[in-house]
Amino acid sequence: MTAKIYVTRKLPEQIISKLQISYEVRMWAKENVPVPREVLKKEISMADGLLCLITESIDEDLLQIAENLKVISNMAVGYNNIDVEAASKRGIRVTNTPGVLTETTADLTFALLMATARRVVESSNYLREGKWDTWSPMLLTGQDIYGATIGIVGLGRIGEAVAKRAKGFDMNILYYNRSRKPHAEKELGIRYTELNELLKVSDFICIMTPYTPETVNLIGKEQLQLMKKTAIVINTARGGIVNETALYEALKDGQIWGAGLDVFTEEPVDLDHPLLSLANVVALPHIGSASIKTRMKMANLAADNLLEALAGNTPSCLVNGPQLDTYRK
Ligand code: NAP
Ligand code: GLV
Repeated sequence: MTAKIYVTRKLPEQIISKLQISYEVRMWAKENVPVPREVLKKEISMADGLLCLITESIDEDLLQIAENLKVISNMAVGYNNIDVEAASKRGIRVTNTPGVLTETTADLTFALLMATARRVVESSNYLREGKWDTWSPMLLTGQDIYGATIGIVGLGRIGEAVAKRAKGFDMNILYYNRSRKPHAEKELGIRYTELNELLKVSDFICIMTPYTPETVNLIGKEQLQLMKKTAIVINTARGGIVNETALYEALKDGQIWGAGLDVFTEEPVDLDHPLLSLANVVALPHIGSASIKTRMKMANLAADNLLEALAGNTPSCLVNGPQLDTYRK
């Protein structure tokens, strides 16, 4: 019998055709609507392979009915939407799409940093709302980027790519990471500091860790209190790494100067969310990797990972290799 693949969102024809060569492919054919949980439950119970997005929570509840499932291929580098432990104990392989989105996400991170520091969105709205009467000495003044100090929390692929961009702006670059990165220190001339020290001295604090039990609320009230009054927090990693209630209070009270957020604890973020009421917040709808070329690369890599796993080979982006004694074939 032909093995079955379920794809949880409409993907370009060329990706689906590649999967159809050897497999029966079913797909949630809508572009901007996530697959309903009940549909996913039914489909996953029949699938050998799943190609999913970060919008799907692949948890114990789903995996216990996924009796034939051999691989979960996430079209994202972050995979906190998947219960990897629950998948591993069933011998289900989990893959992601690292690398292909690094530069695009670093570009967006830097764009967000610049937009927040120089009040780009607020200034554009000011003009469009007919408020621009004259050039004024202190009108819509922001923070300097060139020569400022940036503290990168999580110096992985994207963190390092952000550091390279910061170098072009002659910034003083600090980083905090779970492990030291001697190669980056040497090549980029950046300096490791403990988290609290980084928070105290940085003008920009850029969050680039994955979302894990260790990074939930990594930046909360206590950490925000250490920051300069002129500090700007940039989060393009995951909502929940920065505590949103504490961030709102800090921004509202002028304890820090601004925040650029591409990610939120609940996505899509509720329009009534307090953070969206603040002029010193630039908010984006999770578009870090959203360039046409990069999204195609991610879709292709996710498809290739899926095909490799179903063919019984080791996919190039296997997340749970070490946790699997044996895997479903
Ligand atoms: P990566 O290469 O794995 O980098 C993550 C870095 O975080 C690693 O250097 C890691 O340290 C460090 N880290 C992990 N846990 C830590 C902790 N508890 N304390 C301090 N440092 C810690 O991943 P990446 O490709 O750069 O992606 C990073 C994250 O960005 C993803 O997980 C995803 O959530 C997010 N992302 C968002 C978008 C978007 O659209 N906004 C796009 C892409 C990615 P070690 O080196 O010691 O492991
Ligand atoms: C996007 O958020 C990703 O993790 O790729």
